[in-house]
Amino acid sequence: MKNVSIIGSTGSIGRQALEVVTAHRDRYRVVALAAGQNWRLLLEQIVVHRPQLVAVATAEAARQLDENLPPGTKTEIYWGEEGLLACATCPEAQVVLTAVPGILGLSPTLAAINRGKDIALANKETLVAAGQLVMEQARRRQVAILPVDSEHSAIWQCLDQKPAATVAGIILTASGGPFRQAGIDLHRVTPEMALSHPNWRMGKKVTVDSATLFNKGLEVIEAHWLFGLDYQQIEVVIHPQSIIHSLVRFVDGSVLAQLGLPDMKVPIAYALSYPDRLPGVSPAPDFCRLGSLTFEAPDRERFPMLDLAYQAGRCGGTAPALLNAANEIGVEYFLTRRIGFADIFRLCSQVMELVPSRPVSSLEDIMLADKMARAKAGELISSIIH
Ligand SMILES: NC(=O)c1ccc[n+]([C@@H]2O[C@H](COP(=O)([O-])OP(=O)(O)OC[C@H]3O[C@@H](n4cnc5c(N)ncnc54)[C@H](OP(=O)(O)O)[C@@H]3O)[C@@H](O)[C@H]2O)c1
Repeated sequence: MKNVSIIGSTGSIGRQALEVVTAHRDRYRVVALAAGQNWRLLLEQIVVHRPQLVAVATAEAARQLDENLPPGTKTEIYWGEEGLLACATCPEAQVVLTAVPGILGLSPTLAAINRGKDIALANKETLVAAGQLVMEQARRRQVAILPVDSEHSAIWQCLDQKPAATVAGIILTASGGPFRQAGIDLHRVTPEMALSHPNWRMGKKVTVDSATLFNKGLEVIEAHWLFGLDYQQIEVVIHPQSIIHSLVRFVDGSVLAQLGLPDMKVPIAYALSYPDRLPGVSPAPDFCRLGSLTFEAPDRERFPMLDLAYQAGRCGGTAPALLNAANEIGVEYFLTRRIGFADIFRLCSQVMELVPSRPVSSLEDIMLADKMARAKAGELISSIIH
């Protein structure tokens, strides 16, 4: 029996993780759950899974939850930053699934690592902002960072402990998002258009990041840290069908790929069950019905966020944290219709020009960079608003 804590249990990844856990109750027990505002769904999850503790984002959500808990429920309720940390460090948890979006995931992930918990990592922004700190701390505490992102799960499965010297590089696949086809004027894109992803149903932030291709940029930096690869070893290819989840190139010219239907339950289940595999998580693709699998180069001019991420990754220090923070602000402003879709790049590139990158030696360095980038983005936004 493995005890699991899920941070972001009411979100896209969190709900699918609970489906996996519910289908395998003989293997997994939920000990802690953290959500944001959706206390009603969290309440349903408490009734089903009876965790020892839960957390919500605000005191008000905690009050609502407390008033509506069925009599006799023993679950403790926390809220705010303290709540996230309580879920991450719950003494009984063996593995913590981090599935909140953005920099919010960083402190709980580090806290869980410090308590020796394995991490099933969906929150890619954690490695983007603080890859070196997180990986060093994980090595020191001998905890596993188990990728949940489908691309990194694919690479992990293909690498399967093969000697590093045999690996020439990796190829991350990207669906290309809803605006892949030239002809769509990116200056006229609305939040509704950006939120309709062709293959995946995900949270809003990651869906907009997929539409700008910044999600792939975040994944490039995530892969750099997870697999210890140089940036020139990490390629991106557009594969609109999302059947090949990523590939590894070996020095002899051979390439291994991991395939499956676009279903996040597969990488979630693999992270939770590794090195075992759970039966019946998702049907395998029917190749006779699939038709063709196609590939093309990303359009780096239409989607400049991809190269901005490469630049930040290569620059190192606090540069990826700065870019991540600027993008979080940009996406929020785009979703609330205060800036246009193409302005997300303008905002991010200006923040990168104006806020210098610094070396990183502690979590405080990262959090300061995050704060400075948000402040600069806030200042710049008035010159961008139409
Ligand atoms: N979805 C995917 O297919 C996918 C694939 C690969 C990687 N990822 C990564 O996984 C992470 C989560 O993505 P998602 O799509 O699952 O996001 P999502 O659907 O937006 O869910 C976000 C979760 O975080 C919770 N949350 C938000 N703010 C919070 C706060 N202040 N305190 C506590 N909890 C808070 C939300 O709670 P409420 O809803 O209750 O407010 C929800 O449970 C992201 O880093 C994303 O890049 C996602």
